This record gives sequence, C-alpha cells and structure tokens, in this order.
Amino acid sequence: MNRTIHLKSRPHGEPTLADFETRDEPVPEPGPSQLLYRTTHLSLDPYLRGRMNEGKSYIEPFALGAPIVSGFVGQVVRSNLPAYAPGDLVTGMGPWSHHGLSDGRGLAKLPRDTPPSAALGVLGMPGLTAYVGLIDIGRVKPGETVVVSAASGAVGGVVVQLAKLRDCRVIGVAGRADKCDYVTKELGADACIDYHASDVAAELRRLCPKGIDVYFDNVGGAVLDAVLKNLRDHARIALCGMISEYNAETSPPGPNLRPLLANKALIQGFIVGEHLQRRQAFLEELVPLVRSGKVKHKEDVTKGLDNAPRGLIGLLRGENFGKALVEL
Ligand SMILES: NC(=O)c1ccc[n+]([C@@H]2O[C@H](COP(=O)([O-])OP(=O)(O)OC[C@H]3O[C@@H](n4cnc5c(N)ncnc54)[C@H](OP(=O)(O)O)[C@@H]3O)[C@@H](O)[C@H]2O)c1
Repeated sequence: MNRTIHLKSRPHGEPTLADFETRDEPVPEPGPSQLLYRTTHLSLDPYLRGRMNEGKSYIEPFALGAPIVSGFVGQVVRSNLPAYAPGDLVTGMGPWSHHGLSDGRGLAKLPRDTPPSAALGVLGMPGLTAYVGLIDIGRVKPGETVVVSAASGAVGGVVVQLAKLRDCRVIGVAGRADKCDYVTKELGADACIDYHASDVAAELRRLCPKGIDVYFDNVGGAVLDAVLKNLRDHARIALCGMISEYNAETSPPGPNLRPLLANKALIQGFIVGEHLQRRQAFLEELVPLVRSGKVKHKEDVTKGLDNAPRGLIGLLRGENFGKALVEL
C-alpha cells in the first residue's frame, strides 16, 4: 500500500496534527510516459505553511483533501521514460507519500558524488535562494558587512558561507546559543546574535560600527526593525522570508521603514522560482564546494512519513537546527 498525507483542514494560527490526514491506497501503476519512484526524503519548508491557507499568493494553495506536496528525493522503481532507469536517484516536487508518479516534468537526476538529501538543501531550492538573494538582489561586494537572520537554517547557512567566501564581514542572527555557536565555529561567521537573549539593535550597533551594507532577511518583524536602525548608506536588503509572521492570523504592526529613506537603502523582495536561470551558475560554484567539504550543511531529520506533519509544525516554531527533512 502507498501511504499519503493529505491536508484535512486549514490551520488557524499554528498548524496542528488534526489538520493532516493519512490515507492508504494501492501503489500506483506508471502510465506509458511515466515513472514510479520510491520516496527517500521529503523537504520541510516554511512556505508550505502559506500553501495551507486559502487565498491568493505567489503559489497556489493546497486544495482541502489533496495531498501535501513538497520537494522530494526518490529512487526510480519502474520507468517508461527513456531518460530514466530503475535505481536512478531523482529530485522534483511530489506528494508526501512513500511512492509517486512522474511524467518527467520538473524532474532532475542528482549531481554525482553529492549526498542525495543535499538536493533539497544546500544544492537545491534553499541553496539557490541564498545564491540569488545575496549575489543578484543583495549585490554583495568584497569587504562589505552582511547580516543574515535564521543564519543556521537551510537558506541562512549558505548565505553565511557564500558571503565569507566573498571576504565579507558576516554577522548571523539565530534563535539559540547552540545555533549561534554553529554559525560562528562551523560556518565561519564573524559573530552571531542570539535574538532571544540579547538586544539585537544594540548588539548590531556594537558589531557593525560603520553600519550594515547587506541584510539578508529570512524573518521580518523585530529583527528587521533592529537591522533598519543600523543601516549604512546605500544598503541593500534582500527580502527573502518573513517566518516570524507565517503562523500569525493578522499582520503584526510593521517595522518603521523611515531609515530606508535616510540611508538611501534598497529593499527588494524576491521569489527563487523567478530566478531558475541562475541554477547552472549556482551549481557550478556550489557542487565542488560541497564535494570538497568547504561548504558545510547541516540537516534536521524527522524519521518516517507519519512524522512529517510534526516536523513541519516544529520548523514553524524554530525547533529545526539545519535543513528540515523527512527521511522515509
Ligand atoms: N523568497 C524565496 O524564494 C524563498 C525561498 C526559500 C525560503 N525562503 C524563506 O527563507 C526563510 C528561511 O527558510 P529555510 O528553508 O532556510 O528555513 P530554516 O531557516 O531552515 O528554518 C526556519 C528557521 O526560521 C527561524 N525563525 C525566525 N523567527 C522565527 C519565528 N518567529 N518562529 C519560528 N521560527 C523562526 C528559526 O530559526 P532561529 O531559531 O534561528 O530563529 C527556524 O529554525 C523563510 O522565511 C522562508 O520562507 C524564501
């Protein structure tokens, strides 16, 4: 049988296990131009919370009763597509289930000699987001001061390392002492602020006396507000995510944006899906760095399909430490 996890109800505030439903159905048969894969890993990502809501966004909401869909890594079991053979490791978008079908659209084989799960993190959508946000949106230059929030996470961890590789001074912001230790000692940031334990604006003033050139924002809210008070002239802000608000039922009062004007700062939102033409350049830089171990990546693994909803709920609480994945 093929177990699949479906959206049962739309959450109010934080999702609960009752918002998900498990169904067992026969393993599907691949059609004449399809392949069947066995899922080995599922990606847990903050944007999945937005897809559980009704209403217009940059991506369609999940239909009630439909399977939850996210990035996956899987192994081909049977293939009627000439480009794929049983045993091939593939990645794409698919249902939260033990098996799935694909017609090959949006499917890719994994880069050689890299850990399979990296295709969902450092070498996948989160890594590309870090690359596009820092280089194309943030227009980072060597020697600049870069601040990144959720710095131990899937996106933030890559931002820290790419900025260090470009000789920047890098300050991370993260939500626990052990996350901050990882950001400085393992990823190489010059400092990391635990935002639960410190006055972030005062710490940024101390650590960045000349001000911040690039802010890679993964969280919005109070941390964004603290950064705005410490901008350098002509700062750039890559507005990547607002996870501090994803479970909120109404928008909290926003930060005061006046310092953007005074500092002639540029702030730009971006969605990685509109920058897929950068994937090749991103992989050319990152694959050798990941293979050689020069770029590190940390995973937070939830075991078993049945625990996937628990893993997503934990991610939205900040409990994950590293790229959140489900291993099947
Ligand atoms: N624009 C795009 O195309 C794009 C693409 C991918 C991801 N994103 C965004 O990038 C951000 C990071 O995504 P990711 O996949 O790398 O996730 P992640 O950082 O691996 O995990 C999420 C982290 O967010 C942090 N966080 C900050 N404030 C929080 C709060 N109020 N409640 C809960 N957690 C909070 C937590 O770390 P701390 O304990 O350190 O706070 C948590 O571990 C998200 O906002 C996501 O939506 C955007």
